[in-house]
Amino acid sequence: MQRIPEEKIDEIRSQVDIVDVVGNYVQLKKQGRNYTGLCPFHGEKTPSFSVSPEKQIFHCFGCGKGGNVFSFLMQIDGLSFVESVKKVADLAHIPLDVAISQGDSSPGNKPDSQESKMIEIHQLASKLYHYLLMETEEGQEALQYLLDRGMSEQELDHFEIGFAPAHASTVTTFLKKREVDLALAVESGLLTERDDGEVVDRFRNRIMFPIKNDRGQLVGFSGRLFNQEDGPKYLNSPETPIFNKRNILYHFSDARQEIRKKEEILLLEGYMDVISSVSATFSNGVASMGTSLTEEHVQMIRRVTNRAIICYDGDRAGIEASFKAGTMLAEQHRLEVFVLQLPNGKDPDDFIRSEGAEKFAEIYTHQRLTWTAFKLQFFKRNRNLQNETDKIAYLGEALAEIGKLDQAVERELYLKQLGSEFDLSMEALKQQLQQTVVVKPKPHDYGGPPPESYGEYPSYEGDGGPVYEQFSFAQPSGVPSAGLTSEKRLLKYMLEDRDAFIQIRNLLEEHQTDFYHDNYKALYTHLIGFYASGNDANPLALMDQLKDDMARNLVSELEMMTVNTDVSIEEYQDYVQSLTKSSIERDIKEKEQALLTATQQGDIPAALELARTITTMRATMKNTPN
Ligand code: CTP
Ligand code: MN
Repeated sequence: MQRIPEEKIDEIRSQVDIVDVVGNYVQLKKQGRNYTGLCPFHGEKTPSFSVSPEKQIFHCFGCGKGGNVFSFLMQIDGLSFVESVKKVADLAHIPLDVAISQGDSSPGNKPDSQESKMIEIHQLASKLYHYLLMETEEGQEALQYLLDRGMSEQELDHFEIGFAPAHASTVTTFLKKREVDLALAVESGLLTERDDGEVVDRFRNRIMFPIKNDRGQLVGFSGRLFNQEDGPKYLNSPETPIFNKRNILYHFSDARQEIRKKEEILLLEGYMDVISSVSATFSNGVASMGTSLTEEHVQMIRRVTNRAIICYDGDRAGIEASFKAGTMLAEQHRLEVFVLQLPNGKDPDDFIRSEGAEKFAEIYTHQRLTWTAFKLQFFKRNRNLQNETDKIAYLGEALAEIGKLDQAVERELYLKQLGSEFDLSMEALKQQLQQTVVVKPKPHDYGGPPPESYGEYPSYEGDGGPVYEQFSFAQPSGVPSAGLTSEKRLLKYMLEDRDAFIQIRNLLEEHQTDFYHDNYKALYTHLIGFYASGNDANPLALMDQLKDDMARNLVSELEMMTVNTDVSIEEYQDYVQSLTKSSIERDIKEKEQALLTATQQGDIPAALELARTITTMRATMKNTPN
């Protein structure tokens, strides 16, 4: 692995705010000194995930995971340490010249896993396809097609669009030369095996769209026909260990930052729509891959935002799909939903290219339909409103919809609209509304952060008191709580202050006592090494060095504790004595167990000996001041 100088790492770390980085992945709410949200690492309905801007760390009191900005990106995006440093450097616009080596670019830090190899194969292929499109004679026709459609070279580069030639073995030969495992390339969906056993390219004579997953890893392709009609318009990678359409939204990982900035996501139907909207400054756009929105997609979306803007094709199918997606988002998951309707059945790509980005922005910003307004319009389809029966049926449906609204003002607004549209009096409509059976939507199932549950969330401003203890994942069982609290505090002081470390270490040696729990012990050992190499106290830098997740999680847990910083050596002494005491207590318990066994087995001499030892130990305990 490449070494980046520690000063550089510190510089990079200090140039970003962890709240901003985490905020791209988790909706955060200010709560006292910290920010809280739903933990992205385990499923939960009430937030136990905390980010501290002061300490620049995150910690989940539910699952125990914690760390600094680098550890966050490593875990959430499956990056290596170097990659995560590079990513933060890019965010902070700090030039950092490191080449990410192959062994480094690995999902879940497992450089040699089959999956990371499949991703590497895709990266290789994507570079080849892109080169073939941009630089070769073979790619000329496809390139011309894209340019004719109004795409710029910049867009083609940005989305790394490529070209798969018509031959059976362009990529196959290319991968063979690089000694890539072809069986794995077949499993990854890039190549296929013919009946006669020969391995060939899956994608031929197609324009290639590389598809990344939500971690930004290249996991599949979609290839579009461009000069003939034979076969499906888009051919996608098959389901593989790395590619599953159900949980892929095209452009999601790249859209994250903009989704957060605009506080809303733009849902589109196609790749071309995403590409055009990005050029029209709507980089918050994503598209599902020719499937309707899945439950998995909704989960991905609501982790980052509470508001979705649906902009599907303006044709009939697009409108039906908007209704389906909107119902899921607004009614099942309580997101705020708006719908954009483009005139003349156009899709966003057509619209932007023909009418311009400003027109699109105008519709996006000023002509968005609320979910209710969209539905009032939607219910008109398949109806002839000149016909009385149809009209009454429509009004019934519309009123039921209006009745679902919580706000009187909103109800009034839509009633007025209906009134003027159908020339009905407000009284008549209101009366009718009262008679309409209203099915209120279910209470919040955490579609977005319900303020109540944030309010209930316990505060961690305390000093590791009872609330803290109760939520602390790392709390090992069967340990006297006084001992545990002492262990925590001692380690916390040692983490944050070099002098405290020296004093406490001396005390521990003097009393011949040590931490009891493995992860506490491990952290203590790390600290000894950390200070021995001349470092000043620096919990964030220490986290970078901790390869052991448990130890790092413990650091973030301790960092989240607030303790009195004005401590005397006597206090340290008390804590150390409490460690000693707990250790004696544990010994006594053990001896008592042995005594019981000895008694049951009738081993009287052993029992007497044990009883005597226990008495002496109890006496020592009494003499140990608290
Ligand atoms: N799609 C697919 N398979 C197909 C057709 C479509 O997976 N056979 C998916 C693609 O993700 C595509 C989206 O559905 O982007 C929308 O399809 P469509 O509107 O037909 O294509 P566009 O994205 O508009 O592409 P183009 O403008 O090039 O026709
Ligand atoms: Mn299109």
